[in-house]
Amino acid sequence: MGERWTPKSWRDLPIQQVPAYPDPAALEAVEAQLASFPPLVFAGEARKLKTALARVSTGDAFLLQGGDCAESFDEHSADNIRDFFRVFLQMALVLTFAGASPVVKVGRIAGQFAKPRSSPTETLDGVSLPSYRGDIVNGLTFTDEARIPDPRRQLEAYRQSAATLNLLRAFATGGYANLENSHRWMLGFVKDSPQSSRYADVAERMTEALDFMRAIGINPETHQEVRTTDFYTSHEALLLGYEEAMTRVDSTTGDWYATSGHMLWIGDRTRQPDHAHVEYARGIRNPIGLKCGPSMDADGLIRLADALNPGNEAGRLSLICRFGADKVGEHLPRLVRAIEREGRSVVWVCDPMHGNTISAGRYKTRPFERVMQEIEGFFGVHSAEGTIPGGIHLEMTGKDVTECTGGARALTADDLQDRYHTYCDPRLNAEQALEVAFRTAELVGRGRTAVERPRLDAAE
Ligand code: PEP
Ligand code: CO
Repeated sequence: MGERWTPKSWRDLPIQQVPAYPDPAALEAVEAQLASFPPLVFAGEARKLKTALARVSTGDAFLLQGGDCAESFDEHSADNIRDFFRVFLQMALVLTFAGASPVVKVGRIAGQFAKPRSSPTETLDGVSLPSYRGDIVNGLTFTDEARIPDPRRQLEAYRQSAATLNLLRAFATGGYANLENSHRWMLGFVKDSPQSSRYADVAERMTEALDFMRAIGINPETHQEVRTTDFYTSHEALLLGYEEAMTRVDSTTGDWYATSGHMLWIGDRTRQPDHAHVEYARGIRNPIGLKCGPSMDADGLIRLADALNPGNEAGRLSLICRFGADKVGEHLPRLVRAIEREGRSVVWVCDPMHGNTISAGRYKTRPFERVMQEIEGFFGVHSAEGTIPGGIHLEMTGKDVTECTGGARALTADDLQDRYHTYCDPRLNAEQALEVAFRTAELVGRGRTAVERPRLDAAE
């Protein structure tokens, strides 16, 4: 890894997961056009998220990160965005209330378009075609034509990200996220679900608390914390030509920032320390996520922490662990111990999705209980090691899809065909996502009581 970093220094290094664009000149023209477009997010916002994540690293807040595995051009509607944002707010409220912890809200949205693939080709009925790599690269339809990488898709991804972000900003600050609306965030189908009465109870307690606060002069008109929320965006920094074009100097500090999203992460398949994706990420000042799967060893992790967070800054590096329910107990402790031994500041995040994917007939799915088991295992390891379980990273949607089995409605493998809509990996539906929030809130709340009890005892 060279010392001198530029937004394009990654181009000199080996790289994984690169689409084979047939027309390099067309690609270059698109990248030049993107470089002339306005930034989607601002450096100051990325810094604010980093400060919030620093609080997560010390246990003073909890990170909720989630959204589609892959956003798609076809499903870009206001309804989808609103339904996602609404369930996300419900989950955050549950975690804040039952977990008694501020929640840092980060969507996998407004830029989550590029997908790494296990195989460069996909074979169906004896026909092999290039794999689908996300709508920013090629099309999902299984035809020769759709699978050819088309650089113009990057312009469409930019346009969609801008429009999505615009609506999210309006929802977050324009009144929709006002806590006094928490009763109204109930989704139609969640109303008669097992989660609905639990959520109604939380919203009721919230309303009582707000009534009390209003009585003492704290209300949405005078206090923007009640009226608005901070919502951040994130995606995998996979398509580096696009990211390079969106990398800009912050005029107030002179530092480089990715302006395609607030937080970017490096995927489990592209985290080789001397390769392009780590090189790109090390030079931008945004908060960075690093996916850690079973093949991550302690020395490799410290080497990556050296490259990505040489100043050991709090909030800069989140380790997004995705081992699988049956492997978290085996792999997480050695990584936690290495980080503790070396005195590194990190945010520990649990992605309970990517290590728990199984096949059910022609569908990929994830059993809800395996998802919960990984989250419980993650909390268990941190409790045993005396470290902080900082947050969860979910693939989820606000819609009533049937992609993951289980949950309170006990979806079965036979139900998957009903509404299996994902472009890539199976997502929790709104009800299952809310259920994860309730069960995780219990774990967060329990952790807090365990920490706070000795202090009370000491005072007695
Ligand atoms: C993802 O988050 O969609 C993904 C591909 O994850 P990972 O890199 O952990 O496999
Ligand atoms: Co995924």
